[in-house]
Amino acid sequence: MASTLVSIIDGRPAEGSPAGTVSSPNPSRLTDLVAEVELADASTFAAACAAAKRAQQLWAGIPAPVRGRVVAAIGRIVEANKESLARLVTRELGKPYREALGEVQEIIDTCDFFLGEGRRLYGQTVPSEMPDKQLFTFRVPVGAVAVVTAGNFPVAVPSWYLVPALVTGNTVVWKPAEYAAASAMALFELIQAAGLPDGVLNIVFADGATTFGGLEQGLRGGTIDKIGFTGSTAVGARIGELAGRHLQVPCLELGGKNPMVVTPSTDIELAVEGALFSGFGTAGQRCTSLGTIIVHESIHDEFLARFAAATSAAPVGDPAQDVLYGPMLDQRFATRFEEYLGWIQVHHKVLGSSGVGKIGPTNPRAGFIGDPEAGLFYHPTIVDGVQPRDALFRQETFGPVVGVTTYTDMQDAIALANAPGYGLSSAIYTNDPREAFEFRRGISAGMVSVNNSTSGAEAHLPFGGNGQSGNGSRQSGIWVLDQFTRWQAMNWDYSGRLQKAQMDVADLTADLSYRLQP
Ligand code: UN1
Repeated sequence: MASTLVSIIDGRPAEGSPAGTVSSPNPSRLTDLVAEVELADASTFAAACAAAKRAQQLWAGIPAPVRGRVVAAIGRIVEANKESLARLVTRELGKPYREALGEVQEIIDTCDFFLGEGRRLYGQTVPSEMPDKQLFTFRVPVGAVAVVTAGNFPVAVPSWYLVPALVTGNTVVWKPAEYAAASAMALFELIQAAGLPDGVLNIVFADGATTFGGLEQGLRGGTIDKIGFTGSTAVGARIGELAGRHLQVPCLELGGKNPMVVTPSTDIELAVEGALFSGFGTAGQRCTSLGTIIVHESIHDEFLARFAAATSAAPVGDPAQDVLYGPMLDQRFATRFEEYLGWIQVHHKVLGSSGVGKIGPTNPRAGFIGDPEAGLFYHPTIVDGVQPRDALFRQETFGPVVGVTTYTDMQDAIALANAPGYGLSSAIYTNDPREAFEFRRGISAGMVSVNNSTSGAEAHLPFGGNGQSGNGSRQSGIWVLDQFTRWQAMNWDYSGRLQKAQMDVADLTADLSYRLQP
């Protein structure tokens, strides 16, 4: 049964749907409507920002350890609802159930990490250069935060923003992807159940253009102090420009063209397993999904044959069953993926399935699980022989397609890995520590895996990218605290006189010409 979802601002449903409605269907069975979503207009978005701004002083006034207890409660409530939230993620986004459970676990892990931050949120006491004076630092919440998230991780990635933002004393307007609205609303309800006062967390459903307009209004009106955005490089660049005009630095988590280098010293089977999971897990729709495999020329043929065989044999289909991957997240990604497949050229060799493109009766996939016609299912596609000038090599291709090319020496491999100009995740398969560290030093990515997939980051290490993958901001762990707090420096002179820094400082005379006797 489909639910009707509306934005919640200041604890109340926003009446009417000034920007119309959209539906969020199950991508593995398109006739199954998961939700009808009433869309807000830009001024409704701006009203949510104003509500968040109004609630912020009160929320920041609640002691941080108490806010930490709220985060602890969110974690426990999500844990108690783990299976039902995961089932909804599988139904609405087509993510295999096991992966969906992992996604929900990532929220719990994030809460487990940040519940302690309420009692930590350390500042420093710092010695002064003068007597009877003490220096301190404090972390201050940035204020009201607008968080705009994608639907490929409809609940885990939002929690990377919401949980640290809330524990550090910020209030939030969350704009999830419309095609992930039901999963987002479920997480919103679970968070609300932890006892947040009205206005501290607001959820707004809106399309991209409206959201941009709402962000513009909020920034102009001074009701948005920070933007967090996970999505495409093109939209991230526009948000960066907009925020920059208001002297703000957004937290941007953008696309990737994540390379995997496979060296001759590796265990080829392990590399094949890693390539299969990172290339085709979530139907290649993670921002950490594998883009191009850069394999040493001496093992290219053997690696490719084994990778193609493993891909051909992998179970694809109904995400409620035990499959490598299910459907595309939504029609918009299916349509775009078909454009990417159009980038395959005559000098490429295609492997990995019994066909290319949408799976169906005239284009079947051997061993498909379920009814391919019911949803947005695509063949896994390996494209061998990609070259640095190819669009398939240079651009992110959100979907189940992986390029393969060869290298001769490690410097060559690193240059190829960096060439597209993204810099989110990367992997190297090697048993030679020198190669692993040479790769780490040379790669532009924010994340490096050794003998592991490009995807599957743990929830307490810095997550983020460089170049076209982001502006250097990092989420997760202690590192995200710098996104949601600003340092305030305090100095306190209790000497009873004006002591001038740099001028009224004691000077002990040193004899710099002093030398030991030979
Ligand atoms: C994303 O695709 O936006 O590392 C996030 C991973 C997951 C998170 C991916 N833990 O693949």
